[in-house]
Amino acid sequence: MKRKVIVTGGTGYIGSHTAVELIAAGFDVVIIDNLYNSDITVLEGIHAITGVTPKFYDYDICDLARLNELFIAEGGADAIIHFAAYKAVGESVRKPLDYYRNNLTSLINLLDMMERHNTPIMVFSSSCTVYGQPDTLPVTEASPVKEAASPYGYTKQAGEIIIRDTIASRTSHKAVSLRYFNPIGAHPTAHIGELPRGVPENLVPFLTQTAIGLRDGLKVFGNDYDTPDGSCIRDYLHVVDLAKAHVAALKRLLDGENKTKYEVFNLGTGTGVSVFEAIASFERATGLKLNYTVTDRREGDIEKIWADSSLANRELKWKTELTLDESMETAWRWENKIRNQQS
Ligand code: NAD
Ligand code: WQD
Repeated sequence: MKRKVIVTGGTGYIGSHTAVELIAAGFDVVIIDNLYNSDITVLEGIHAITGVTPKFYDYDICDLARLNELFIAEGGADAIIHFAAYKAVGESVRKPLDYYRNNLTSLINLLDMMERHNTPIMVFSSSCTVYGQPDTLPVTEASPVKEAASPYGYTKQAGEIIIRDTIASRTSHKAVSLRYFNPIGAHPTAHIGELPRGVPENLVPFLTQTAIGLRDGLKVFGNDYDTPDGSCIRDYLHVVDLAKAHVAALKRLLDGENKTKYEVFNLGTGTGVSVFEAIASFERATGLKLNYTVTDRREGDIEKIWADSSLANRELKWKTELTLDESMETAWRWENKIRNQQS
């Protein structure tokens, strides 16, 4: 019998790409998403790639009574992959309670469901944001977790601790937190991709929206950082590579290969890329010239960060395969697809 995985936030950006990889790996995927930041048509995209439409519940995970009914109806699952969260850093500063309520209540409810409904495994979406501005680079899982720069960041720090302590209190449960660096790109088929609502905060969707004419120009937030070209440095990884890491982490837990009941892994390429290098990659991959200007620094930006992912390379037998140019090319293909659909 197929092993069943409940994927919260499964119509979202990373969740949908992971649903595709889970189906390809033979899992039965059940999605819970309240469509707060995604669209029901994503299910069609998943079907177009895999030939399978996952079972879908339009539920708010913060609604414990409804969630309980869902878990009764499903009879639990082999595992939960928990993507659902609010993720806009700037918005979290303006609406901290919304972020604490949504991101922490949803997590606590799911941990509760695991115990009540015989669901022993959780894979959690964490973030490189937990490291703040690191003192040494690249960051390993042992690097200190610094003061978070935003309420969003605190929800990830607190989320990890809540999982760690809950798992420690249970004999047969286990979990993993995956600290993503900067996921970008889209599925190469252009059937699924990122669907930012409103003006994007993140670099790559802003960049593709500029190139397609939705935005006047990209603002490069600062060229006076202590980096080789003065712009900030990040570790951008392709979302399909990131999705595959979830399958690897899940299999490790299901097959009992985990070393401890709760583990943490960095997921990145291991290479730092500046904003100017990202623009150059986009131009190379698409043959376009991008309109951009340099402006002031963005408040709260980290100067530079990239991952040491050797633990994930070794333990999950996972590494990134797709290049930065491929990420840019697929992001551009996806941007064209969605704009052509809308015109
Ligand atoms: P996304 O917004 O595209 O997907 C999240 C999904 O969760 C959305 O479809 C949304 O509708 C759903 N959701 C939110 N709250 C819900 C609730 N209470 N009940 C049901 N559904 C709910 O975001 P994403 O980029 O796919 O991110 C997935 C996870 O990865 C998040 O936890 C995010 O914090 C984390 N993460 C993202 C990034 C990134 O750059 N995208 C980086 C690091 C970590
Ligand atoms: C990347 C670089 C900007 C937009 C965010 C979250 C982090 C994690 C990943 C969830 C930075 C520069 C951006 C623009 C620019 N998410 N930039 N012009 O800030 O690294 O991380 O997403 O966990 O928590 O904070 O990503 O894509 O916003 O920015 O120059 O219009 O691009 O200054 O150097 P960031 P980003």
